[in-house]
Amino acid sequence: MSARRKTPPALKVEAIAASLHSSAIGHRILYLPVVTSTMDIARQEAERGAPEGTVVVAEEQTAGRARFGRQWLSTPNQNLAFSVLLYPSRRTSTRLSTVTPVAVLRAITKVTGLSATLKWPNDVRLGEKKVCGILIEAAFQDSQVRHAILGIGINVNFNPAEDPQAGFAATSLAAELGKPVSREELLQAILTELGLAYTHLREWDRVWDEWRSSLETLGRQVQVRWGEHLEEGVAEDVDSEGNLLLRRADGTLVALAAGEVTFQL
Ligand code: BTN
Repeated sequence: MSARRKTPPALKVEAIAASLHSSAIGHRILYLPVVTSTMDIARQEAERGAPEGTVVVAEEQTAGRARFGRQWLSTPNQNLAFSVLLYPSRRTSTRLSTVTPVAVLRAITKVTGLSATLKWPNDVRLGEKKVCGILIEAAFQDSQVRHAILGIGINVNFNPAEDPQAGFAATSLAAELGKPVSREELLQAILTELGLAYTHLREWDRVWDEWRSSLETLGRQVQVRWGEHLEEGVAEDVDSEGNLLLRRADGTLVALAAGEVTFQL
């Protein structure tokens, strides 16, 4: 006889929004069971003039997206998939890809005690396996940023080993911890940390140092691909813009603004 698995309960967001009523992020949370992508809903919210810090969370995305035009698969009622709407200045917008993974790292440590690392620029990993992906989309008008949307997908309680479509080395918080993790507690911690980091950008140097020292990419021999391009070399450092500084075999140094990193032995 096959034991029927109980569907885990739906995410409850009311108490989270209430606890964040005076925070920059998370004071308004839209919870939707099924969407194409939370990025689409957040963009519609921006076009309607929704307040900064609005969060869109979904249990299921039918067209969830990742970087490089890839698909993001979510497991309903087990993981977290959400987007955060911001109206940053141009200067602040360049810092979002640093602030966001640092806030996620801090929240993961606070809630689970696990210490995650980053793969440049912002994949969050546990033991060399991806646990969280971050996608940032922005809309511009003239030289101003109209809005920016942070998209965060975290494997919380699902077991990637059971998903034949998980085409990359993935893990989840529960798989690493050996017990389930409260999605509510984690979402609240991430929104709190994001709100603090976003508001206190004057503490930028601390956030920057934390981002840089969490990058397991540095010091390693890597390949970086973007579109048709490929660069190889040692990931020597990052510059103040967040570019990866790659030392090629011929000794020259190149600064890369984006790309997918593969580690070489
Ligand atoms: C990546 O790993 O390349 C980024 C993945 C980002 C996934 C999240 S899930 C919530 C939000 N909605 C999406 O469609 N994508 C992001």
